[in-house]
Amino acid sequence: MAPLFGALPIEVGVMNTLTVNIHLMLAAFYKPTAQRRRILIESKAFPSDHYAVESQIQWHGLPADALLLAEPRAGEDTLRTSDILDLIDRHGDEIAVVMLSGLQYYTGQVFEMDRITAAAQARGCVVGWDLAHAAGNIPLSLHAWNVDFACWCTYKYMNSGPGGISGFFVHERYAHDAALARLTGWWAHDEATRFEMTNCFVPNAGAAGFEVSNTPILPAATLLGSLDVFALTSMEALRAKSELLTAYLEHLLLTHAAAAVRIVTPRHSRGAQLSLLFAPAALEPVFSALTDAGVVCDERKPNCIRIAPVPLYNTFHDVWRCVDVIRKALAAITPQAA
Ligand SMILES: Cc1ncc(COP(=O)(O)O)c(C=O)c1O
Repeated sequence: MAPLFGALPIEVGVMNTLTVNIHLMLAAFYKPTAQRRRILIESKAFPSDHYAVESQIQWHGLPADALLLAEPRAGEDTLRTSDILDLIDRHGDEIAVVMLSGLQYYTGQVFEMDRITAAAQARGCVVGWDLAHAAGNIPLSLHAWNVDFACWCTYKYMNSGPGGISGFFVHERYAHDAALARLTGWWAHDEATRFEMTNCFVPNAGAAGFEVSNTPILPAATLLGSLDVFALTSMEALRAKSELLTAYLEHLLLTHAAAAVRIVTPRHSRGAQLSLLFAPAALEPVFSALTDAGVVCDERKPNCIRIAPVPLYNTFHDVWRCVDVIRKALAAITPQAA
């Protein structure tokens, strides 16, 4: 899994599901002090991330204002990097952890992970990324960006279904830091002596020193199957096709449905996904038509459909067919609804 994340093998582990891993990473990396106790997340973070962070704060007995939210400007859908950097600049010495998503699940925006990581670390913050929607979607360089920790699931571009086993990253500089207090279990114990059952905990080097329980073999086997497919190509090759597929989707939408669709995903910072806003009355007819035609996409009420042509298995013809379905569905509904 490490090459997909620009990580060294020692930096990547496989365990649990995503929110559990967020909790485990925060247990290790969120060490609030009287001065530095806040966690910076997006105001529109995926709810599970929000709840996880909020509950970590409560669990530490801290007040609600330890949660610091980065909000898009009024009238804007996505966060500007400059606004995130400004927030870090203004509150840096109060922030223990910055934990944003690498690719925002709703808008499809890719964050400038390198710049944000560097700026937050320069202010003394620990930086973690939720890569649920970035994993297998965009090239990542977690080691080079010096990211402290990251977590992701494999449900999306990495081909598992819901509940498939998840991954995490802990930077190499912590690989031999046995003093980093964490929530642990026998699987984190030094593999060479694990079965000596001494009850004297010695962590494995690297991410393996954060794995709590033994690995469930069935989801691990399906993950290996998916990784075998990724090993036949590279993230760079996938990205090259992905940029063309998504640009083609955008082009067709702007050509055939511009009056009825607003694309909120920023053109110059996106992965495969486009998030499309429709008039609320158009949402159900368009989504039903897509579903009936076998297009697997996602609706978020009241007005959003997320579509992601996936370079591993989608073709340009798939993209054309998808927009053809949208075009016909829009033509079939009343002009006001469209
Ligand atoms: C950004 C993000 N965070 C958290 C989750 C929750 O994942 P899990 O059910 O593995 O905890 C998801 C699931 O899709 C997600 O997309």
